[in-house]
Amino acid sequence: MYQLADRMRGAQGSIIRELLKLAGEPGMISFGGGAPEPASFPVEKIAQITARALREQSAAMLSYGISEGYPPLVASLKDYLSKTEQLDFAREELIILSGGQQCADLVAKLFVNEGDTVVVENPSFVGCMNAFRSYGARLRSVPLEADGVNLEALEAAFAQGGVRLFYLIPTFQNPSGLTTSQEKRLAIYELARRYQVLVFEDNPYGELRYEGDWVPSLKSRDEEGLVLYAGSFSKTLAPGMRVGYLVYPKALHPSFKVAKQGVDVHSSTLYQLVTHEFLTSHDYTRHVEALRRRYREKRDLMAREMAAHFHPGVRWHKPEGGFFIMAWLPEGMDSLPFVQEAVQRKVITVPGSAFTVDPGVPNNGIRINFSLPPRDSIVEGIRILGQLSHEVLGQAGHQALGA
Ligand SMILES: Cc1ncc(COP(=O)(O)O)c(C=O)c1O
Repeated sequence: MYQLADRMRGAQGSIIRELLKLAGEPGMISFGGGAPEPASFPVEKIAQITARALREQSAAMLSYGISEGYPPLVASLKDYLSKTEQLDFAREELIILSGGQQCADLVAKLFVNEGDTVVVENPSFVGCMNAFRSYGARLRSVPLEADGVNLEALEAAFAQGGVRLFYLIPTFQNPSGLTTSQEKRLAIYELARRYQVLVFEDNPYGELRYEGDWVPSLKSRDEEGLVLYAGSFSKTLAPGMRVGYLVYPKALHPSFKVAKQGVDVHSSTLYQLVTHEFLTSHDYTRHVEALRRRYREKRDLMAREMAAHFHPGVRWHKPEGGFFIMAWLPEGMDSLPFVQEAVQRKVITVPGSAFTVDPGVPNNGIRINFSLPPRDSIVEGIRILGQLSHEVLGQAGHQALGA
């Protein structure tokens, strides 16, 4: 009855959101989401800051704001990012956007014409792939290895021509949990320079490192102005505040301002003020340290339980940070029947096919989230998945799932 615009043809509904509808059913254990634990939200401080701001500056908080972002936050965030990420605001500018998701949308809006190719990692974050699809992008994926994308495949993709953008999540990737090594980051940058491809570096999890050494962003080494860098406070403060940011070469500032104006004028001033107050007077650094302790403990618990219960034929690796552990069934096996059977046993995970350019193609990955479920659910849920892995990788179970 309704004829949707051509640009929406490629956009896929998120299987993750469908699975998460089941998460509220009684007795369900969900490893399906990718959200921070609500108990980590600094509710009292947010309540104090907002109450005071509404009392003392209600006009400024509730009137229209500036499209570039609440000026005190723009300043404090630049200061923070120059220290933590070594970003150079002599050459860069930033804009406050409504989460990392809006960064993807505006980057695609500005740079992707219908039919242009956007290269993504395989697997990659479905939310951003959908944003690219909605602008008519053709997605082409390159395999992700333990230390980042396969460079030969990346070069082959760039060499084909018509590539406007390479989208990557180099640190604690969603869904794989993998981190791109410094060597590969430099090699990726060199390829982008050689083929003049813009790089969209998405880093919502970078601050949540539980072990290992910090790896510099591609943006921090971007002398040629090829990198657009997205960050977000969704994972560290609260996703409902919708405060994210995009860093880019100064010359792009007017274009991003106009793009933001056309979409939602500006992001909520009140929550930008909350973020600014955290950065300047509520010790954001200490808050992030507490998050690292909280999530490190959960990651360790999940990894311990997986080591104890999973069939040795299931491959997985312990991430140095972020929210996810990805497990892989043996090569060539489709994880969808496994995930469906796990749902019958009241455990939700996400099949690897959800994170690919063509979700119809079978995939052996399973994304398992450890940030949200309580500890007892981690223990119980991994026990159930482990039991299922033994059944599936044995002959009888294999047949029972029709694999
Ligand atoms: C890789 C990646 N990018 C971007 C986002 C979007 O986050 P938000 O819009 O809440 O900042 C997410 C959320 O899960 C993500 O995993």
